[in-house]
Amino acid sequence: MSGQLASVAKAMVAPGKGILAADESTGTANKRFAPLNIPQNEEMRRKYREMLFTSPHFGEHISGVILYDETIRQNDSNGKPLAQIIAEAGAMPGIKLDTGTVQLALGGPDEKITEGLDGLAKRVDEYVKLGAKFGKWRAVIAIDEGIPTHRCIHANAHALARYAAICQAGGLVPIVEPEVLMDGEHSKHSLERSFEVHEWALQHVFEELSAADVRFEEMILKPSMVIPGQKSAQHATPREVAGSTVTVLMRWVPAAVAGIAFLSGGQDDEDATTHLNEINLIAQERRAPWPLTFSYGRALQQAAINLWKGQDQNVPAAQAALAHRAKMNGLAALGRYSAEMEKERDLVPVGR
Ligand code: 13P
Repeated sequence: MSGQLASVAKAMVAPGKGILAADESTGTANKRFAPLNIPQNEEMRRKYREMLFTSPHFGEHISGVILYDETIRQNDSNGKPLAQIIAEAGAMPGIKLDTGTVQLALGGPDEKITEGLDGLAKRVDEYVKLGAKFGKWRAVIAIDEGIPTHRCIHANAHALARYAAICQAGGLVPIVEPEVLMDGEHSKHSLERSFEVHEWALQHVFEELSAADVRFEEMILKPSMVIPGQKSAQHATPREVAGSTVTVLMRWVPAAVAGIAFLSGGQDDEDATTHLNEINLIAQERRAPWPLTFSYGRALQQAAINLWKGQDQNVPAAQAALAHRAKMNGLAALGRYSAEMEKERDLVPVGR
């Protein structure tokens, strides 16, 4: 099984490819639909996901899709499982395995712990049968006055490691996601503070992964980028963001890790692409040992959902928008993106 998991992990971060995070829980998906007046029901969520997965050239820049429990059980309009649609498009289906976050007992205000370990091995078995090749677990670390606490960093790192070990034992490649939030309101959420918290979190995550005997060759790390808090008043250039991000990763992430696929965390979609490109340029200069790519949710879907608006006649335009963002990010994963390429948008073929 080991060789197989290592090749799945490698394929997830193949050159010029990255991951589409489409694992919004029902609540989050509905929250995205509401401002666009899209009916918030299972059929519309199904239609939306079918629209995304049947975009032209889907598998060219998308190696895998993270699904939510509801989606991995849904079929397309012809009765074919959406997981099979993804596989036929040349990508791999994956599954969100955590069940969300709750307030961390005895933690600081707004500190969260991620749940979902109970019964996880059984759920992994079921998802493997439904076609999943990899899993995802997101830990959330907020920056504010006095937080994160050691208790929060430690508890989340431990849960991530337990999840990753259960995944590997059950035949899934774990995506290990310690997200340091970028949306802190705190004026002291500077680039330097973000760097410090990333160091702290990554150090603990890899200690716990190592204590749990997780095989690094068979996992993907999904980190946040080192960015000042959106309301911190500090502005960092793409070069500064990328330099800090690569430094922290090279300091704490073992070379054996199969690959790194960033979350977008609420960045504007073109910013997320620019940052990924700059990260790859610096990683090439410094000879970083792993492929660095995207595992974006909002930064891949934003333009597409805004165009779709729940209307069938908008499907080709929305699909072209997704195909375009996937292509731009695929280029950024190689360090070959430039802002001028955004104009190529109209050249992306429309339709299936
Ligand atoms: P964003 O890229 O929207 O942050 O989502 C990625 C993800 O999977 C968060 O868990």
